[in-house]
Amino acid sequence: MANMIESQEFGKGDFVLLDQLTKEAFMDNLKLRFQRGRIYTYIGEVVVSVNPYKSMNIYTPEYVKDYKGREFWERPPHIYALADAAYKTMKRYLKDTCIVISGESGAGKTEASKIIMNYIASITNVSHRSEIDRVTGILLKSNVILETFGNAKTTRNDNSSRFGKYMDMNFDFKGDPIGGHINKYLLEKSRVVHQQKGERNFHSFYQLLLGSTEQTLNALHLKRDPTAYTYTNQGETNNMKSIDDKRTFKEMSGALKSVGFSHDEQQTLFNLLAVVLHLGQLEFVEEGQKVRIQNKEVVNYIASLIDSNAASTEEALLTRVVAARGEVINKIHSKEDACFARDAFAKAIYERAFLWIVERINGIIEVKLDVHRYGKSTVIGVLDIYGFEIFDNNSFEQFCINYCNEKLQQLFIELVLKQEQEEYLREGITWQNVEYFNNCVICDLVEQSHKGIIAILDEACLNVGTVTDQMFLEAMDKKLKEHEHYTSRRLVPKDKDLQHDRDFRIIHYAGSVTYSVIGFMEKNKDQLFQDFKRLLFQSSNPVIKDMWPEGQQSVKEVTKRPLTAGTLFKNSMIQLVEKLASKAPYYVRCIKPNEIKSPIQFDDKRCLHQVEYLGLMENVRVRRAGFANRQPYQRFLQRYKMLSSYTWPNHQCRSDKEAVTALIKDIRFDHDVAYGNTKVFIRTPNTLVTLEEKRSELIPHIIVLLQKMWRGANARRRYRRTVAIYKIMNRYRRYKMRCYLLEMNRRFANIKRMKDLGKSVQWAVPPKVLISLAQQMKLMHARWRAKYLIKSVPKDQWPAIQMKCAAYDALHNKRQGWLRPRKWEGNYLASMSDNASLASVFLTSVDKLRSKHGFRDVIFTAHVRKVNKHNKSEDRAIMVTDKLIFKLDPAKGYKPMHGVPLNKITGLSISSGTDQLLIIHLEGHDDLVTCIHKTTPQADDRVPEAVGRILRLVKTELRSELRVNVVQQAQVKLGGKSKSISVDQQNNASTNFRKVSNTMLMLVTCPT
Ligand SMILES: Nc1ncnc2c1ncn2[C@@H]1O[C@H](COP(=O)(O)OP(=O)(O)O)[C@@H](O)[C@H]1O
Ligand SMILES: [Mg+2]
Repeated sequence: MANMIESQEFGKGDFVLLDQLTKEAFMDNLKLRFQRGRIYTYIGEVVVSVNPYKSMNIYTPEYVKDYKGREFWERPPHIYALADAAYKTMKRYLKDTCIVISGESGAGKTEASKIIMNYIASITNVSHRSEIDRVTGILLKSNVILETFGNAKTTRNDNSSRFGKYMDMNFDFKGDPIGGHINKYLLEKSRVVHQQKGERNFHSFYQLLLGSTEQTLNALHLKRDPTAYTYTNQGETNNMKSIDDKRTFKEMSGALKSVGFSHDEQQTLFNLLAVVLHLGQLEFVEEGQKVRIQNKEVVNYIASLIDSNAASTEEALLTRVVAARGEVINKIHSKEDACFARDAFAKAIYERAFLWIVERINGIIEVKLDVHRYGKSTVIGVLDIYGFEIFDNNSFEQFCINYCNEKLQQLFIELVLKQEQEEYLREGITWQNVEYFNNCVICDLVEQSHKGIIAILDEACLNVGTVTDQMFLEAMDKKLKEHEHYTSRRLVPKDKDLQHDRDFRIIHYAGSVTYSVIGFMEKNKDQLFQDFKRLLFQSSNPVIKDMWPEGQQSVKEVTKRPLTAGTLFKNSMIQLVEKLASKAPYYVRCIKPNEIKSPIQFDDKRCLHQVEYLGLMENVRVRRAGFANRQPYQRFLQRYKMLSSYTWPNHQCRSDKEAVTALIKDIRFDHDVAYGNTKVFIRTPNTLVTLEEKRSELIPHIIVLLQKMWRGANARRRYRRTVAIYKIMNRYRRYKMRCYLLEMNRRFANIKRMKDLGKSVQWAVPPKVLISLAQQMKLMHARWRAKYLIKSVPKDQWPAIQMKCAAYDALHNKRQGWLRPRKWEGNYLASMSDNASLASVFLTSVDKLRSKHGFRDVIFTAHVRKVNKHNKSEDRAIMVTDKLIFKLDPAKGYKPMHGVPLNKITGLSISSGTDQLLIIHLEGHDDLVTCIHKTTPQADDRVPEAVGRILRLVKTELRSELRVNVVQQAQVKLGGKSKSISVDQQNNASTNFRKVSNTMLMLVTCPT
């Protein structure tokens, strides 16, 4: 009922919720809702429907979806909710249900029944399975056919059902439709031959005349003109705008075909309609004692259309065969008899055709499944029966129709009260009675044996001898004069509205209706001469023959008197009511807002009248006297548990009932509530409304809570995912690392046994994270390998190797020929092989210098050609010791000219060629620019040795690295100026530096 609170402007969605139950309040609510386009309102589970007289956009698939599987109070009032409830009950409890639609003619019953069937068809056939499609398709299409043949325009309703219809839909245990059955009740066949002003015959005639092809009409000998036929022109309303006969004819013949009527069957139906129209055209003329047919060609048409011959047809129309005392004689009709017989024939043909159509449809949709295999099928029945009717002239048909409505009202009273009472009993709740008008007494007036109107009518019809309608009226007056609901002029002489010897009045639950007795007897007898039955049975058209099996009876056969129309109808009504009473009923109460089919007018008087006779106020009262609302505990909790901390979010009680009790106590509503066995009963609507209001107040908080939780959950999920991603990444990285390391491990496993100690082993491409590690490992491997290689070298050779390594670092790939194998001697000037003549002189000088400067070792000595700042070249010697580097003059007994501490050396420069240029850059001095010469053997390449030794010396003594420039043109500093030196090697040249320019020197030397 949330919606009811939401939509205050639309009034109350359930009359039970009215603050005060008065006529005015009820009508105001009904009117308000009608004016606001809300045509449905509940009384509990009864749907009150007001005919909108305009098409409403509330039957779309979206609406179907909205109501599917929902409870009444979950959505705004709609007939779909009722259809769904019926379906749910049927499916859940495997219980047969029925939907009874009542209301007066034009109130919208037939529309409602179609809406319900469509709803059920669309909720059951979601998967479009062919068998379900077939069944629901036929059920829906058969409506079109039945409306064509069974509906007509009356002054009340352009599409008034002139027969009662009760349609069963069968479902299997899964809730899928598997078949159906249609019961029809009393077709108003008098309409075939007579229509009142402003009315029409059944739609079928007009559809045939206006909708069929020229060819068809010709074959039927018909003209496209309803005004040309007696049976279709009496109402003088043949070309109604609102009834599109042409279109519906197409629809109808399409429906006939798709439901399963063969071409011949359809043709036969059209033939029979034509026969009826032709019958109406017959003109009888009296000729002396005899009666003859003026327009004989019509007889020929009829004969050909029923596949008979003209002679027998004419005979059947003009005479009747009677059997008297074993003899058969032919009795000639009077003109009056002939007319009567003709009309009876026309009505009978039409009625039989209609009956045949219904049976044919039933044959097609009959449940063919084996009950033992598929289990019991359950049923939803939809009753759409003619509504209560008052015309200017009310005859036997209206009498039957209104009696039918009395019976249904009776059922409504019984079931609605019974159900309610049973529920209270079931739930163990005390209950007090509500006063209501029980129309049982009117039903009795009609149907009681001996004393009832039908019984009196039958008695009159049974009488041999001429009994007139007036005599029947007299009999009623006599027998029923005490009855509260019966009057006539004889009983109330002052009532001028009642005509003497013609009218009687019944005070129905829905109002007083004056009936004219004229025709009652004849219609009740419903006589058709045997001659016609025989004629049709003898037809060579098998369909027609099939319709008239009793035509085979011999004339002489004595048959039991058939039951009268009244009695047949009464029996069928009693049966119907029994059938309905055995099912769980749902009610749609239709109200007609005005007499002029207006979508806006709300005729207060008429509506109030309907509300009164439908007993809607009583209905509300019954509902309210008990409890306005009841809900199973579990459902109640589900809906309202947020109202109390005992139950939110989940209760801790032993049962739902206990939890509901705690909740209700908590919000202080226990004075207005009763606790049944399975349901909680709420007495006043106000309580329910308050509950709903409180609930709506809390809903936003709950939504926020849900949003919060959702967002939290979402964030947590995202977080967990991220963590997982990192974990996976980590694991994967580690896996890659492990793979790499294992792989490298594998490749280097035998390293010690490898000849090259793993030098040629291919290093795998490391994962990114291991790039620097791999570099370090390569270094480690190189070191290890070096150490391993060195291990075999004696310790005293290590310094030599270290020097060579230093030379390697500085010269490899830079200076030509540095690796030429030769022994590094170091102190060449002290060598007898190298410096035979002056070695001893040199050694004396060294001794002197050692004692003066206190150095330990002489690292390298050589004769050199040296250039000074004036570009002058001179022969000198250099001596590198562990403390100082000396320049000596060999010509003067190796007299020292200069001694520079080791730490003043800033770098070395040599050329990339094999010449012996050796430049020692000094801090605070001119660079020592020399070229080694006078070696033995000649032109021995000693520069690499000098470089290796000096580098190693600086490293061990000073713990520092020297820069070595290996260049084409060396840059030097002489006398504070920068000069560049290039080298020119010439055979047999004596080594010398030459000035090229102020900043350029050239070393000329012979190649080594
Ligand atoms: N729910 C509805 N929506 C639109 N029009 C409706 C509706 N119910 C009834 N009508 C209109 O009222 C007319 C009469 O309704 P109908 O169902 O034939 O009445 P009933 O069967 O009670 O005599 C319909 O032909 C249609 O025009
Ligand atoms: Mg109807």
